Amino acid sequence: MDVLRQILLVLHIVGIGSLLGGFLTQMSGLRTGAVRVVPAMTHGALTMLVTGAALVAVVQSGLDRDVDNAKIGTKMVILLAILLLVWGNRTRDRVSVSVFGAIGALTVANIAIAVMWT
Ligand code: HEM
Repeated sequence: MDVLRQILLVLHIVGIGSLLGGFLTQMSGLRTGAVRVVPAMTHGALTMLVTGAALVAVVQSGLDRDVDNAKIGTKMVILLAILLLVWGNRTRDRVSVSVFGAIGALTVANIAIAVMWT
């Protein structure tokens, strides 16, 4: 079961890479406002949700410990906000700089929560 948790955690990190990486590819356009939500961001956000939910199931049912419900709940709420923003804007040619900045800030906030909340 621990191998399954490790595999899911690797995919969870791949999801972060895709979400944040997609955001970073657009940053050069921030000055001109020519930024858009790229598929790597929607796919990354969905990967975070699916692997995160699977991690909760594996850790709670297969391993002899609980997850930190407050931490996971906070990450979940923030990720749902990210998903609303990326999904709702995925077909637009341009996204407002404030919406785009919010996606990046929420993503970095979730990384900080994952690492610093002990
Ligand atoms: C952008 C959003 C997210 C980021 C950046 C993120 C990041 C991380 C990182 C870096 C870890 C490894 C460190 C740790 O064990 O805490 C982790 C673990 C984990 N994440 Fe996430 N996560 C996100 C969203 C989610 C969501 C939405 C869920 C639940 C639905 C979730 C569930 C979990 C679980 C269960 C673990 C393993 C915790 C444990 O072994 O006790 N994550 N996440």
